Amino acid sequence: MKYNIPRGTFDILPQDSYKWQFVMDSFRKIASRFGYEEISTPIFETAELFERSSGESSDVVQKEMYRFTDRKERIFALRPEGTAPVVRSYVENHMDVLSSRTKLYYIGPMFRYDRPQAGRYRQFYQYGIEFIGSDNPYYDAEVIAIEMLWLQELGLKNLRLEINSVGCPTCAADYDAALREFFRPALQDLCPDCVKRFDLKPRRLLDCKVASCKPFRVGAPSQLDYLDAPCKEHFAKVCESLTAMDISYIINPAIVRGLDYYTNTAFEIIFEGLGAQYSLAGGGRYNGLIEQIGGKSIPAIGFAGGFERLLLALEKEQIELGKRICPDAYLICLGEKARLAIYTYLNHLRQKGLYIEYDPDKSSLKAQFKAADSSGASYAIIVGDSELEAKTVNLKNLVTGEQVSLPLDGGEAVYAILHQDH
Ligand code: HAM
Repeated sequence: MKYNIPRGTFDILPQDSYKWQFVMDSFRKIASRFGYEEISTPIFETAELFERSSGESSDVVQKEMYRFTDRKERIFALRPEGTAPVVRSYVENHMDVLSSRTKLYYIGPMFRYDRPQAGRYRQFYQYGIEFIGSDNPYYDAEVIAIEMLWLQELGLKNLRLEINSVGCPTCAADYDAALREFFRPALQDLCPDCVKRFDLKPRRLLDCKVASCKPFRVGAPSQLDYLDAPCKEHFAKVCESLTAMDISYIINPAIVRGLDYYTNTAFEIIFEGLGAQYSLAGGGRYNGLIEQIGGKSIPAIGFAGGFERLLLALEKEQIELGKRICPDAYLICLGEKARLAIYTYLNHLRQKGLYIEYDPDKSSLKAQFKAADSSGASYAIIVGDSELEAKTVNLKNLVTGEQVSLPLDGGEAVYAILHQDH
């Protein structure tokens, strides 16, 4: 019986894992530089947590959630996103009592039953940041700045930041009413999903991917014209702060975001050159979410991005992400006596922190040199019975071909040379 990987998932193979480690480490570093600490939550939670926070009408809940019932008939879901679990943990662990400002970041797999394509998977890895505790527009700009700075430090150039304000529940209601008026005459021509969205969440009509729905949104009212005075002021201050931080942006009133918890600022970071799946990261403010899932009324903002899309973008721009780890040296051993005696020496070298590759199943000089070459090691350490007698080893630089004889000591002589090369 042969088994295949589930559709929309992938293995991170050994030849690629160093790239993943590189971007994950790099994200941890940038998050730490802004005072964020890592949080890890389970990959499954009660399904209701997502239904309440992402919104019953969202595609994530309606079509994409992996829901399951456990042996005691409890209904869980594989997490489709990280914000709701982080907020659940924030409330459950009374983090607001510990500090008035909470800065959390996370890395981990998320699950969405979506149609797989390049940059869109059913299990994908997100990085994300959540800042909880202030409504100051400075933090909106700072959260955006973290992501922009990181992507630029990684070397990405073709980036575009798009921002919008989706208002607060009060002005969003006025906007929804205006949208219903606008779309009402076209109702019978819209797709069945849009007809549902018309009642539940009319702004999702602006985001429908069905080709025949697209022409109907031309000339639709803009949320920005419906913002009340405080929301308008907040948005203006976010824009002002971004400009002061030297971050360029485009205001795009069509940014809807697929999840329901957003208030005020919503943003997406686009990589120009990845086709349809070009949104590298997205996020926004969610001032009502903490209260909505049982906490106090505390404002917050955050974002998340997918590592798969990031890696695709980095590859597209031919940006190198570290290197696969190669041995410091390959130990070549000739003769039976040398073979046993060499184990102690091998141990000494490894205890010094060197990565030494050795294969006891290869005995000929040719086979061992071939293995040394394909291992990517820069050096070969060669020991035969005659070296053993003379208490020496030969160290050969596999790049230059140069060879020196060194004492067979506790590994110090070889270590001194290999260590210099690090
Ligand atoms: P989101 O826009 O749904 O937001 O997802 C954020 C990012 O995750 C996307 O920009 C994309 O890079 C990646 N992503 C989403 N779905 C997939 C998929 N099926 N395959 C591969 N990558 C995908 C959120 O998840 C919010 N929790 C972000 C947030 C944090 N808002 C506030 N705080």
